[in-house]
Parts: sequence; structure tokens; C-alpha cells
Amino acid sequence: MATGTRWLPKAAMRPFGPDPSHSDCVLVVGVSRPKLAALFLSVMLLSLFLTFHILYDSAVYSIQAATAISENKIAILTNHIPNPPVINQPVVFPNRIHFPKTSRRLPQCLIIGVRKCGTRALLEMLYLHPRIQKAAGEVHFFDRDENYLRGLEWYRKKMPHSFRGQITIEKSPSYFVTPEVPERVRAMNASIKLLLIVREPVTRAISDYTQLRSHAATATLPQQQSLSSTSPLSRSFEELAILPNGTVNEAYRPLAISQYHVHVHRWLEVFPREQLLVVNGDQLIDDPVSQLRRIEDFLGKWCFNYYRD
Ligand SMILES: *[C@@H]1O[C@H](CO)[C@@H](O)[C@H](O)[C@H]1NC(C)=O
Ligand SMILES: *[C@@H]1O[C@H](CO)[C@@H](O)[C@H](O)[C@H]1NC(C)=O
Repeated sequence: MATGTRWLPKAAMRPFGPDPSHSDCVLVVGVSRPKLAALFLSVMLLSLFLTFHILYDSAVYSIQAATAISENKIAILTNHIPNPPVINQPVVFPNRIHFPKTSRRLPQCLIIGVRKCGTRALLEMLYLHPRIQKAAGEVHFFDRDENYLRGLEWYRKKMPHSFRGQITIEKSPSYFVTPEVPERVRAMNASIKLLLIVREPVTRAISDYTQLRSHAATATLPQQQSLSSTSPLSRSFEELAILPNGTVNEAYRPLAISQYHVHVHRWLEVFPREQLLVVNGDQLIDDPVSQLRRIEDFLGKWCFNYYRD
């Protein structure tokens, strides 16, 4: 009690004896400490303002984010961000940030093949470039009739959101070897850019063989229609690739795919040479930057020189 009274003004001290009135108490807050009251009031107003500001910002941001993302991503939004997120920072989604004013565009560039030559690695390397967007998986639009018949609008909806000026890339390695594909691609965009990544063809064929073999080993129903009566599982690469009379079995699919000139010829009947860039897949492993610079030059005057210096 003694310490308490030391800090109270005289007007606040209750006199002993009968309580005179409540006016003293009012006096304490209202008059004798106007500065304290003003401070208290401004702190209250400030916190009220800040609360509304935060609520408003997060509401605006949620609306923007929600309109920018596709329907199924809203579930991710609500799951990942249960309460309003960090203010003034974009909401980060598992893949990339989806801003307003983006839309899904048909690809301006295709990686058409070749299977087992590093098409995935190439796409992922290109995707590091800020002006590149990629389709999530292999869409197989041009090589599978059931997809092609769904039309370009179906294809477009498989593409990622992109800004104007960004380049959308899709890759499906079977485009390279499917006869109908070049004409179909031209029907969509006759000036599209085509990337073809190749490796040393025998290495590629053996890599193809080992993958087919490991798939066959893990498959529950091995499909044997590809070659002869004996299971391909039991046959070595040499047995499959070389006929009994010693000639090369060009019909064996890994070898048929490795005959690049056959397929390239088909593409060049439809597209001018300048629209096809052949990337050296072996060099892409040893010295990726030199190959990426070539691709950057090929894809356009981007003014970024991302892979320079
Ligand atoms: C066709 O491809 C070229 C080259 O990538 C691109 O500049 C053009 O915008 C594309 N046209 C359409 C309609 O997508
Ligand atoms: C080798 O055999 C295949 C069929 O088994 C045949 O098509 C091909 O002409 C033969 N080549 C030679 C050089 O005899």
C-alpha cells in the first residue's frame, strides 16, 4: 500500500472515512492524466487500424491468388494456408507461383525426342530459365489418336500458366518416331520450334533395350508381341539386334528408333531446317552451358543472355 501510494497523484488517493463520491475516480482518468489517456486511445486506434489493414490485405491477396489458380489448386490453397498468410509476399505453391494475368498457351516449342537421350534432363535444364514454362508430363497429344481427337483446346488446358512473352515447352519423345506427328504439329503452328536431342545411336539403343528389359521384368503381364515366340526377357541385345544370317535387324524397335536419319527426313519434309535444332545429348552432360546457349539463340532474341558470362 505504501509503495502504491507513492505513484498515485494526490487526487487519486481516497480519503479515509466515508466515500464522498465517484467523481474522484473520473477525475483520475479523465482529467488528471490527459496525456496517459490520449496515449492509450491512440494505441487502441492504431492497433484497430493495423488489424483491419492486415485483414484487408490478406483478403485481397486471397482473392487474387484464388482467381489466378485453377480450380483444383484452390484445395491446396485452403489446405496449406489455414489462416491469412504472410503479408506482401506471394503465395508459393509446390510448383511455381501463379500470378494473375497468366493464361494457358499452346506450346511454342516442342522437345520431340529422342527417347533415352536425355529429353527429361533437357526440359528440366531449360525450365531453370525464367522465360520458360513446361507442361507437367508427357502429354502425347500428337502421337495418340485418342488424345488428338480431343482437339487443341484439350491440349491447351494441359499447358501450364504462362505470362505473355514466356515460352511454353512440351516434350513427348515418341513424337519423333510417330509418322503422323509432323503434319499434325504443322497444323497447329507452322512456325513452331522443334528441339531434338540425340546421343550416340548404339548407346541409345542399348539403353532402350535395358529399360525395356527391366520394364518387362517388373510387368505382371509381359507383352511378347514385339518379336519372336521366345520371350525378349531371355534374349540378349545381340540376339535381338542381329539376325541369324548376320545382318542387322532393323525392325527391332530400339534399332529402328536409333536410325535418326529415317525420322529426321520425315520431319524435314514438313518443317524447314531452321526450325529444328539438334542438341547433342552427350555434350549436354559434359558441358551443358554450351548446348543451352545454342538453344537460347535458337529460341529467340530474349535479351536476357541468361547463359552468358
Ligand atoms: C508459333 O510458334 C512461334 C515460334 O515459337 C511463336 O513465335 C508463335 O507465337 C506461335 N504461334 C502461336 C499461334 O502460338
Ligand atoms: C537375312 O535374313 C532376313 C530375314 O530373316 C532377310 O530379310 C535378309 O534379306 C537376309 N539377309 C541376307 C544378306 O541374306
